[in-house]
Parts: sequence; C-alpha cells; structure tokens
Amino acid sequence: MQEIFGGVFFEDRKLFTENSVPGYKPFDEELVKRGKREFRTWNPRRSKLGAAIVKGIKSMPIKKGDKILYLGAAHGMTPTFVANIVKESGILYAVEFSDRCFNNLLPICEKYTNITPIMADARKPEEYYWIEKVDVVFIDVAQPDETEIAIRNCKEFLKPGGYLLMAIKSRSIDVTKSPGLIYKEEMAKLRKGGFEIIDWKTLDPLEKAHAFIVAKSKD
Ligand SMILES: C[S@@+](CC[C@H](N)C(=O)[O-])C[C@H]1O[C@@H](n2cnc3c(N)ncnc32)[C@H](O)[C@@H]1O
Repeated sequence: MQEIFGGVFFEDRKLFTENSVPGYKPFDEELVKRGKREFRTWNPRRSKLGAAIVKGIKSMPIKKGDKILYLGAAHGMTPTFVANIVKESGILYAVEFSDRCFNNLLPICEKYTNITPIMADARKPEEYYWIEKVDVVFIDVAQPDETEIAIRNCKEFLKPGGYLLMAIKSRSIDVTKSPGLIYKEEMAKLRKGGFEIIDWKTLDPLEKAHAFIVAKSKD
C-alpha cells in the first residue's frame, strides 16, 4: 500500500483508509488485510472527498489528531473515512438535520467513538455552540447558500489558519448557470470571506457537476 496522504492509501487503483474498527464495514465495503493492519476500501463514486483525492487534489489537510466540524454528515459514508484518518486522538462533530439520515448515522457512531453526532441545522451554529474550536470545517450540504453557511461556521469554530473543505453541487446552487461559472462565483465569495483557495477539482465523471475545494483561513 502506498500512503498518498497521512492515513490515505492507494493500491491497485483503489483507495483505502486504515480501519479503526476492525471487522466493521458499515457500508458493506471490502476489507483488506496487510499484515496485522486492516484497510477499508473507499469508493470515490460514493464520497466526494474520495473523488477529489482520485482526481489528484494537491492538498488534503485532514490528519491524525485533528478536530473536524463535518456539516452534512448524511448516513456517515465520508465521515467514517475521515474518522479513520483522524484516528482516536481526533474527533468529528457530525452535523445532520434530516432525522432519517441521523437515525442511520447513530448506530455507526456507537462503533466510531470519535464521531459525535449532532442533530442540528448548519444554518444555526448557535445550536451547537458548545463544540470546541476545530482544525477543519468540512461542508457537503448541497444547499444554495452553502458557501455562506460554510463561512459562518468557520467564523464561529475554525482555528486561525485552519482549513475549509467544501463539496459543491452546482445544480443545488443554480440550475440555470454553467457549473464552471458557479464554482468561480463560490470561490470568489470564499476569497472575499478571508480564505485562500489552496486547490480545487471538478469531480466529473465520478460525481457529475460537482467540485471540491480546499481553502485556508487567512485569519
Ligand atoms: C450530499 S449529502 C452528504 C453526503 C456526505 N457528506 C457523505 O459524503 O457521506 C448532504 C447532506 O446534508 C444534509 N443537509 C442539508 N442541509 C443541511 C443543513 N442546513 N444542516 C444540516 N444538514 C444539512 C442533508 O440532509 C444530506 O444528508
């Protein structure tokens, strides 16, 4: 296995993280043993962070021990891979507002003790005011005002010099504009909001009309 970013591995054109809950495969993914270590196959067609890595994003700032605010946790697919990367010394505050998704997330959080599920609306950071400052805000909420939600959460919770990772679904923002124009406009908003764009990738064909952005707070 080749470690391409801290905690992210590549072998035979497949992406993996080291499994922190041995034997457990919440999404029926393939588990692979290498010596005493167990790895979970990470399908880039089911995870925008996975897709961004496969598309060659230059920077993937999530690392062991990081504290992450994850907005739009859904059923926990990408959150569990992020939890594998930050390991037990790190933590994910996983915010989700759909009760159907949240109910699927809960049993996963019983196994992944470094994921704290929070049923809340990411537009109202005051609902989870009690969380600590984080190294990374990750957002994947597929909402028209996603960038504004991201900036507001970063202002509340991101440490100075921390990172924002954002998946954009262009159709959720404006169906009438070209995806390319939408990505440009959202990145302009981030720059105006005090972020430097470190890198970004379109995710086609793995995720059609989506992009993934890595940005760093200048504050
Ligand atoms: C595209 S899915 C996220 C997929 C997930 N990030 C993954 O890769 O496994 C978007 C999720 O964001 C949630 N969501 C949308 N708006 C939200 C909001 N304002 N607050 C919290 N969750 C929200 C939706 O309910 C949905 O589960």
